[in-house]
Amino acid sequence: MVFTATQNYAPHELPAAISALKQKRRAVILAHYYQDEAIQDIADFIGDSLELSRKAAATDAEVIVFCGVHFMAETAKILSPSKTVLLPDLEAGCSLADACPADAFAAFRAEHPDHIAVSYINCSAAVKALSDLICTSSNAVDLVNQLPADRPILFAPDQNLGRWVQRQSGRQLTLWPGSCIVHETFSEQALLQLKLEHPAAEVLAHPECQQHLLDLADFIGSTSALLRQAAQSSAASFIVLTEPGILHQMRLKLPQKAFFEVPGADGCSCNSCPYMRLNTLEKVWQCLDSMQPEIVMDEALRLKALAPIEKMLAMSR
Ligand code: 13P
Ligand code: SF4
Repeated sequence: MVFTATQNYAPHELPAAISALKQKRRAVILAHYYQDEAIQDIADFIGDSLELSRKAAATDAEVIVFCGVHFMAETAKILSPSKTVLLPDLEAGCSLADACPADAFAAFRAEHPDHIAVSYINCSAAVKALSDLICTSSNAVDLVNQLPADRPILFAPDQNLGRWVQRQSGRQLTLWPGSCIVHETFSEQALLQLKLEHPAAEVLAHPECQQHLLDLADFIGSTSALLRQAAQSSAASFIVLTEPGILHQMRLKLPQKAFFEVPGADGCSCNSCPYMRLNTLEKVWQCLDSMQPEIVMDEALRLKALAPIEKMLAMSR
């Protein structure tokens, strides 16, 4: 019989129970900014995709509990094959990774044999294995700027990030037509209304947002870059165009400043990532208790996917 945390612990006892189990397993808990506040509060490290990859590569823990989505945990396993990598809910996927099946991506590459294939880290290991270089939202512009000027470039799977990289770098990119279901949901009308109500607020946006929203932003960057900008800016209030999980760290680190999230169209709460939010404290306890679900990878695929990730890490400043 499998015992669940609910049977053993009251909700307020879970953080201490997770901490004890974490020590027993010699585990580290890595969390993305889009996780529930309760998960961020028990994490050893919170970061954006690039920072989390670096942490996963450098940790000396025996077990990595990856509180994020599947492609992130898979990247941790690619970088740290000798560690046990646990994902609290194996169903935590990503609409961008789903929008780019490896066979279709292979055909896309074959149509453009002279192109350098740059893939956003939000893709499967199989797509990474078919790519020349991986990027994240925090280094995409810098990496594209380092590519030979005479070579054409394919960019997959996020067309919104790709268009932004194109504008920032001045390079022409052939784009895969994928997008994030969360960043496509923000209501322009709600944003304009918030700007009217808070005219001094700075608008911070993630580059996965659509062009018409990025046009209204004062600053565009990865989740960590948005957090840094909120700290560095002289503004006292911010309208934040990304998954609202990031607001938890913004409010904790900058209690004197005000942060407003932008709702989805029709005022829905679909601005929360349905995949990220599958992870719960209860599932974190359960995965540490049962050591499942574990990320398991074919070694040949891992090695092929590792090469463009290592290239990214070497080129990232
Ligand atoms: P970051 O690169 O900011 O971590 O973004 C990852 C992501 O999935 C955004 O939707
Ligand atoms: Fe994927 Fe979008 Fe969720 Fe990020 S927010 S994990 S891109 S679905």
